[in-house]
Amino acid sequence: MSVEQFDVVDVISTKRDGGELDNHQIDWVIDAYTRGVVADEQMSALAMAIFINGMQRREIERWTQAMMSSGERMDFSSLTRPTSDKHSTGGVGDKITLPLAPLVAVYDVAVPQLSGRGLGHTGGTLDKMESIPGWRANLSNDEIMHMLDTVGAVICAAGSGLAPADRKLYALRDTTGTVDCIPLIASSIMSKKIAEGTSSLVLDVKVGSGAFMKDIDHARELARTMVDLGSDAGLSICALLTDMSTPLGRTVGNALEVREAVEVLAGGGPSDVVELTVALAREMLRQAGRGDVDPAEALADGRAMDKWREMVAGQGGDPDAALPAAQHTEVIAAEASGYVTAMDALSIGVASWRLGAGRARKEDAVQAEAGIEIHAKPGEAVTKGQPLLTLHTQTPERIERAREALSGAIAIGPERRGGADSVVLDRVDPQ
Ligand code: URA
Repeated sequence: MSVEQFDVVDVISTKRDGGELDNHQIDWVIDAYTRGVVADEQMSALAMAIFINGMQRREIERWTQAMMSSGERMDFSSLTRPTSDKHSTGGVGDKITLPLAPLVAVYDVAVPQLSGRGLGHTGGTLDKMESIPGWRANLSNDEIMHMLDTVGAVICAAGSGLAPADRKLYALRDTTGTVDCIPLIASSIMSKKIAEGTSSLVLDVKVGSGAFMKDIDHARELARTMVDLGSDAGLSICALLTDMSTPLGRTVGNALEVREAVEVLAGGGPSDVVELTVALAREMLRQAGRGDVDPAEALADGRAMDKWREMVAGQGGDPDAALPAAQHTEVIAAEASGYVTAMDALSIGVASWRLGAGRARKEDAVQAEAGIEIHAKPGEAVTKGQPLLTLHTQTPERIERAREALSGAIAIGPERRGGADSVVLDRVDPQ
């Protein structure tokens, strides 16, 4: 039997007592957890100690490297095009990856979007894409390379070989109240992104009730931590801080969001979704050396739509197939006349989740059809009795709990206020 280099209880107590872990301790604990030598209950105690006492910059960097080294690294160097990737910290109604990946690929920049599934009130890109009949999320590394070589964009599940330590730790954090912790979020995201092998990365760090970071100062700190980790690892990187106090666009839920993404690709769609898609595309293209083009043009002239159709078909999906629609809908009407002054992203996300769009445990299935259509957003006028929301579900017994989540979520007042001027609130660049 091999002798372990450290005693895990010493590592936990160091962090519990506010001390710093040295590089050897960090390398060992991540490796030993991946091998199953450190048990889940020990790792959750350590995660909670980190949650409470934080980590120094050196510790975060080493933790990130150790998680990255727990698995394989992808290599896109054989591609003839530069690669660029986007990562969002997660929100409500955030379907941006769907129009963004094909839009950027129009300009000969390869977009490897290795994406995740939704958990809790935030939706996941793979769940959304899977509402397209026939579309396949799980691709081999060869299939990913083929998509990038031919179409130039791929949205797919990250293989199990990529940062397996994070896969295990993230699932543990999700059930131990240790997700919203800046050092753990930053190292989780950046270990996967660095392992994925993209040469440039744009981070969309969400701020507001529907995001992990509820205020701009914490969002800025998370963005700064991730941008520094990325630039130290040689990535061309920047972060946009974007509003998640209200849902993005006018749909929340899997098939409903695909429908809206297709509207954006057809040159229409809600202004906030278009604004953010174009802003992120500009950054991705700039990072990849294509700052000379205007991505708004490819949305308007149909090139992004053509690329979307190629991308969907390349993964077995039928871009012309009807999207699944819910058997049960219920309208929530305005209780007064006036202006919508607030619409809480978290409440809408929880309601959509309860309607069946999200899952409580990672093994659960989601309903492609479930979700919420938003008929009036902050800043818009409504009259009493006018539809504000339509709830969609396959299981009508879920509606009551969804309605409970919506209690107090929408405010209507006599004066026009609450419509955000811009979804992009700030940016963070390497120092
Ligand atoms: N997304 C991740 O990949 N990891 C986190 O810790 C939080 C969001």
